[in-house]
Amino acid sequence: LNLAILISGRGSNMEALLSAAEDPAYPAKPVLVASNRPDAKGLETAAAAGIPTLSIDHKLYGKDREAFERALDEALTKAGTEIIALAGFMRVLTPWFVMRWEGRMINIHPSLLPKYKGLDTHQRAIDAGDAEAGCTVHWVSAGVDEGEIIAQASVPILPGDTADTLAARTLPEEHTLYPRALALACQQIRR
Ligand code: GRF
Repeated sequence: LNLAILISGRGSNMEALLSAAEDPAYPAKPVLVASNRPDAKGLETAAAAGIPTLSIDHKLYGKDREAFERALDEALTKAGTEIIALAGFMRVLTPWFVMRWEGRMINIHPSLLPKYKGLDTHQRAIDAGDAEAGCTVHWVSAGVDEGEIIAQASVPILPGDTADTLAARTLPEEHTLYPRALALACQQIRR
């Protein structure tokens, strides 16, 4: 399936997906990496890997979320996108966009959903005294971080952990989980 990856920053999960997709047997083929932030570091990484990139600066659209999303949607369609992976994409999508791509868009979130939707997931897990944290790949539905879960991985929370040390322990798990979960998602779409 033709894969578009949406990012806003560093793009380390995007990189993990691009690496997995270098295997010709992998079920997704990257056709576009798009960012809502022109300065996203991941855009350079993707371009260096020979993947078409695009930045659609949401700030140019002011408060008009749908105008931004229409531009994004047009670019995705033009690229022949069949599945979208959100990878550190920090814009909340409107119901219009989510409905257009429902069943064809997945996201990675750094918590064991349904726990800790939204931001500051690692700090919240530490503050709650949880024994473990982790990451989840899920289908994107209208509610933020609420869609059906595809796969999860957990890591222990250790004494003395800060949000940073916990994030550093979780990130490599994300990089293993996301390519695996995307392959599962592709199977579900094909069925
Ligand atoms: C990851 O922790 C991801 O789970 C979250 O944002 C972070 C993005 O990191 N949604 P990167 O841009 O993939 O390096």
